[in-house]
Amino acid sequence: DWNPGNVIADQVARIRAQVGDARVICGLSGGVDSSVAAALVQKAVGDQLTCVFVDHGLLRTGEAEQVEQDFVASTGVNLVVVDAREQFLTALAGHTDPETKRKIIGREFIRVFEDAARGIVEAAGEHGEEVKFLVQGTLYPDVVESGGGEGAANIKSHHNVGGLPDDLQFELVEPLRALFKDEVRAVGLELGVPEAIVWRQPFPGPGLGIRIIGEVTQERLDVLRAADVIAREELTRAGLDREIWQCPVVLLADVRSVGVQGDGRTYGHPVVLRPVSSEDAMTADWTRLPYDVLATISTRITNEVPEVNRVVLDVTSKPPGTIEWE
Ligand code: XMP
Repeated sequence: DWNPGNVIADQVARIRAQVGDARVICGLSGGVDSSVAAALVQKAVGDQLTCVFVDHGLLRTGEAEQVEQDFVASTGVNLVVVDAREQFLTALAGHTDPETKRKIIGREFIRVFEDAARGIVEAAGEHGEEVKFLVQGTLYPDVVESGGGEGAANIKSHHNVGGLPDDLQFELVEPLRALFKDEVRAVGLELGVPEAIVWRQPFPGPGLGIRIIGEVTQERLDVLRAADVIAREELTRAGLDREIWQCPVVLLADVRSVGVQGDGRTYGHPVVLRPVSSEDAMTADWTRLPYDVLATISTRITNEVPEVNRVVLDVTSKPPGTIEWE
């Protein structure tokens, strides 16, 4: 009989057998897979695990706190937080091409993660310990997609540690390799991982960096975060979270249109709501959200975010449109 308790007991035994008394590191992204993988390894080997969270400044409102506070409080993991917000903004300055932005974010992520990992390896070495293992939240569908070979995990480019230098080679610990997403969620809940993390909708590694159409700047990030959190609040309030696959909010930062807000003419930016329904993100349909929910989101965003004077709805399926705009 499948139940999360059995999976946890089984994986805890396997992780202990694989890891022994070596040290382990894990990169946390704030998403469900890396969080549940880390929580499982923590349950198995406790303080032998150190997690690394790279704050690249491209997360949504509340997400860094979910990792730094709620996840730590509920699991007791050792967490190293790297505040790399300035570094990412500097690296992204002046860039508008989507693939270039993705590459820059991926490259900086690896640099920062590498530095943090090297620091952990060196600190452990001073105590005569060896950091031999790296946790990955690889799921069964990733294994199948990549041909199923051992260690052939389909690691998203921004988390790709395959390119780590020679002095940083790790063996992978992949406790979710046999699980589907809904099973990972059940295991996460059983382990006490916060619901906001367990039920988080997919969010791209490059984060808000690919939801600002145009150059990424601090001001634009703040505007997008303010609009995004309103959309998320209202979708949650309407009880729609589990019906929607995800709902990117996109800032058309280089587009302006005329509006009237308060007593004055404005010349602000549009945001796009992109609610989609999907099974696997390979194809998607636009979600027919109730008009009253759309109206509330639109009114709130234009009232509460002064830089935004227009809210538009994306009614394109995938294909031809991708889910993200970049
Ligand atoms: P698209 O836009 O290709 O997105 O229809 C499909 C799914 O993948 C997510 N996505 C990404 N995830 N790194 C990621 O980790 C990326 O660069 C990336 N681009 C898109 C997207 O949010 C959707 O769930």
